[in-house]
Amino acid sequence: MAERVLVTGGSSGIGEAAVERLLSEGFEVWATARSAEDRDALDDRGARAIGLDLREPREIQTLAAEVGSEPLDGLVHNAGIGVPGAVEDLDREAWLEQLEVNVVGPATLTRALAGALRDAEGRVVMVSSLAARTQVPFYGAYGASKAALEAAAATLRTEIGPAGVDVSLVQPGPVATGFQARSRELLAEHVDVEESPHRESYERVAEAILERLPAVTADDVAAAIERCLTARRAPTRVPVGRLASLGTRALGWLPDRTQDRILRWLFVD
Ligand SMILES: NC(=O)c1ccc[n+]([C@@H]2O[C@H](COP(=O)([O-])OP(=O)(O)OC[C@H]3O[C@@H](n4cnc5c(N)ncnc54)[C@H](OP(=O)(O)O)[C@@H]3O)[C@@H](O)[C@H]2O)c1
Repeated sequence: MAERVLVTGGSSGIGEAAVERLLSEGFEVWATARSAEDRDALDDRGARAIGLDLREPREIQTLAAEVGSEPLDGLVHNAGIGVPGAVEDLDREAWLEQLEVNVVGPATLTRALAGALRDAEGRVVMVSSLAARTQVPFYGAYGASKAALEAAAATLRTEIGPAGVDVSLVQPGPVATGFQARSRELLAEHVDVEESPHRESYERVAEAILERLPAVTADDVAAAIERCLTARRAPTRVPVGRLASLGTRALGWLPDRTQDRILRWLFVD
């Protein structure tokens, strides 16, 4: 049973729900947030809030010095962003921002806390996505980031597993959080939508994700995170929601072009 845990991105959505759940189960919960206001709110709930911007290596080291000074039973990599955009529309900065927040930052943080995880024989939980294994149209950079995270998770397990540290992936489909609204801001930041040949598709994908496709709640995902931390044997991957189960279990068996057609139909047409 994990007792002392760190949840990244505790300020909203899935992270906030996971913090709430783990506190109510009696965990000592460290939670990261970038704004002082969010950290105050987390402290008021009984968490131990700490600042972290995953794009700032120095902040990762400062956090690790404090949180990693004692054995750590659980590290939940939840913080993440989704930069939408067709591959032909995304500039280099968009790719770098996507990969820094979702892959390079979490990998650096894992490295910085590996000693504390080994000391506790702790667990690592990575919040991935349906998009890691399923080609969600116009989420290529995001999908690439989650596929990379999954590759790192699987290798990490084979490397550190013998030391008693287990690694799980949580794979949600759409979740009802502010994530999509933030993604739209990132799209506007990086892509000149009006000039794009995909202008109309962007609207349809956003509408499909926000209105047509079945979404789970942040607490459904938090429950899966809790299971990864507490199950006697940590699951290696937990899809959350019907769409995620379809994407991670069934679609992969179909020929690539059939998958392409189904995904285009689900998200765009
Ligand atoms: N919502 C979905 O449909 C969905 C589906 C599948 C997977 N996921 C994954 O679930 C995770 C949580 O997403 P969510 O739905 O809960 O979205 P959210 O409400 O937007 O939460 C994202 C969290 O990440 C943090 N974050 C963003 N950039 C950061 C950075 N540079 N450094 C440190 N923290 C940063 C945010 O902190 P600030 O408040 O400080 O910005 C926030 O706490 C993500 O990894 C996402 O990819 C979401």
